[in-house]
Amino acid sequence: MIDQTKSIVILTGAGISAESGIDTFRDAGGLWEQHKVEDVATPEGFARDPDLVLGFYDMRRAALEQVEPNAAHRALARLEREFDGDLLLITQNVDDLHERGGSGQVLHMHGELKSALCLSCEMRSPWNAPMIDRPQCPICQAPSLRPDVVWFGEMPYQMERIYTALSGCDLFVSIGTSGAVYPAAGFVQEARASGARTLELNLEPSEGSHHFTQSRHGPASVLVPQWVDQTLD
Ligand code: OAD
Repeated sequence: MIDQTKSIVILTGAGISAESGIDTFRDAGGLWEQHKVEDVATPEGFARDPDLVLGFYDMRRAALEQVEPNAAHRALARLEREFDGDLLLITQNVDDLHERGGSGQVLHMHGELKSALCLSCEMRSPWNAPMIDRPQCPICQAPSLRPDVVWFGEMPYQMERIYTALSGCDLFVSIGTSGAVYPAAGFVQEARASGARTLELNLEPSEGSHHFTQSRHGPASVLVPQWVDQTLD
């Protein structure tokens, strides 16, 4: 069955980076228990208290220096190198662990910590420094940078490309995501509607677990390398 697979779409979430030491959002002690979503992850929160928001993302960006990709990130990079078909890796994560694990093509639908979006010229720049001191945009020099991350109430990136891939894939795999946030939570139904098989790899059944043809539960660092081995066999 696996041999027939010609096109795979993979969606990853915070669970794939958990074993690297990055907090997830909704697990016990997760980021949304420590911070209010409406304060640090909405355009309104940014307008109200930009220092709080810039400081929150500066802290998360700096924390990336303390973590390393794990076996799950590296297994997906191996899949990219060795799978003889189409592969689209979509992540909701704003960390850079897929890239550091060796993946060359990663679609960051919720943006990236290491990217800056200028509110003045609307251009993006690679960024790996604090923003709280209002640095200048490398392109237009305006001191108007914000984190290039998608906040609640904003449209995730590259949705057209994602839906096109979902409608043409024959396998959709969701890894380490709670299925609590749309539109990503709806990808499984979109893929199924187009006839794809669907597989969930998660520590526990996610909110949308029942939508998947198959679910495997356990840590990503174990399940993902196992699945990649099977797929490439
Ligand atoms: P969540 O924190 O909502 O869910 C993380 C999922 O990973 C849970 O289902 C956990 O059971 C699972 N998990 C935890 N540790 C794991 C491990 N070692 N191996 C496998 N699975 C594990 O994070 P996301 O689903 O990524 O959006 O959250 C989606 C979006 O909500 C985020 O991108 C972010 C957040 O608000 C924005 O900020 C726009």
